[in-house]
Formats: sequence, C-alpha cells, structure tokens
Amino acid sequence: MEPFVRWAGGKTWLIPHMADLLGEVHIEHYHEPFLGGGAIFFSLDHLKKSYLSDANSQLINTYIQVRDNPDGLIEEFQKFHNTEADYYRIREEITADCTIANAARFLFLNQTSYNGLYRVNRKGRYNVPYGFRDTWEYDVQRIRDASEKLKNTRITAGDFEVNKYRIKRNDLVFLDPPYTVSHNNNGFIAYNKNLFSLNSVYTSYAKMSSQMTMHLT
Ligand SMILES: C[S@@+](CC[C@H](N)C(=O)[O-])C[C@H]1O[C@@H](n2cnc3c(N)ncnc32)[C@H](O)[C@@H]1O
Repeated sequence: MEPFVRWAGGKTWLIPHMADLLGEVHIEHYHEPFLGGGAIFFSLDHLKKSYLSDANSQLINTYIQVRDNPDGLIEEFQKFHNTEADYYRIREEITADCTIANAARFLFLNQTSYNGLYRVNRKGRYNVPYGFRDTWEYDVQRIRDASEKLKNTRITAGDFEVNKYRIKRNDLVFLDPPYTVSHNNNGFIAYNKNLFSLNSVYTSYAKMSSQMTMHLT
C-alpha cells in the first residue's frame, strides 16, 4: 500500500528489501518515530498496534484526521482545485490548529506544491511554491485505505523520543531521521530545521535495551 502523502526522503525504494532485512523475525508492535509518508509502515502487514510519530504537527494532524474521519476529510479536500490561485490562497489560510480543514489544506498543498516538499519560513509558515502539476489527480480511495490501515495506531506529534519508552521485546523500530551532516551535499538539509547525527539517534535508542538489534542501512 502506498503512502497518502508525497514526502522528501520517503523510503518506498526500501520496501523490496524489507523481507531480506527482517528474515523470519516475528514482530509484535511497530514503532516509527520519524514517520513522514510512512512508506515502510504502509508496506507491512499483520502488525499489532503501531506507534507512529513525527515532529511535524500538521502532518500528524492529517494522519489523525485520515484515521478518524476519512469521509469528512475527503469532503473538505474535494472543495479545492489545482490552480495557482487556489494554491496560494490555501497556503495563506493553513494554520497550525488540529482541525479537519487544516488537514485537507495540508494534503492539498502536499499534492500540488513543488515536488511535495514541506518547508517553513522563520515564522513557521509553509512557503513552498506552486508545483504546476498539470496532470494531477488524487484518488481519494487512498485516504479510505490508509484510514483502515491506521485503525490500530497511536499517532503522536513530537520529538523522536516521545514514544520510545513503549518499546517492548519483539517490537520493530524503524528509524529514518532527516539527513545528517555527512550527507551535506544532497540539498535536503535546507528543508529541516534540526540536523541529526545518526549516532545520537542510535545511542538514544540503543540505551533502551541491551537486547535490541540494530541494522544500519
Ligand atoms: C527522512 S523523513 C522520514 C521519511 C519516511 N521514512 C518516509 O518513508 O516517508 C524524516 C522525518 O523526520 C521528521 N523529523 C524531523 N525532526 C524530527 C524530530 N526531532 N523528531 C521527530 N521527527 C522529526 C521530519 O518531519 C520528517 O518527516
């Protein structure tokens, strides 16, 4: 199943390798604290409860509305048209409030912006330009499918450590932080307010349990 948002650094390319990486391991719960588009979450089946979080509260509000009110979200979303004028009006209107209207705006901007990027200015206002995607179409069934998939999830806005104390034996934790200083030339860094050292994320999670197995890809 595909993510319902476009996301820079999305891990769709990793999906074909997951079976090899995981082998026969039995997974109880799933944790993804740098959720973004959640490509790996949406690709996995038969999970018990999943713990999903991200520092981007507008993204997380959208996930929550997709899970809890897909039809209301679709209704709001379908009011918008892929024109430059609508795009810039909606970009002005979006706020940080956790409402269904803002989730619809977020999804619309995500779909019609330049490359689906998420970037904010110093005041925290979304400032990506219009994408001119002439052939854009969004199949709203993706929202309903994602809603089903998200049924047994705890979805939280916050720093990557927010749910880490919920990790139990036989859980799978997928860590995909923003690009680090060592990848400095790939252009992604400009879109993230915080820079991460992979090592600091690793250390933070490794402290959780001496029984944890880490794969670095
Ligand atoms: C590389 S993207 C994750 C992409 C995701 N795996 C996918 O397939 O779409 C990294 C994510 O980390 C989030 N992020 C940045 N700083 C964070 C922090 N301090 N705590 C939690 N999430 C953070 C960003 O909002 C972004 O969604």
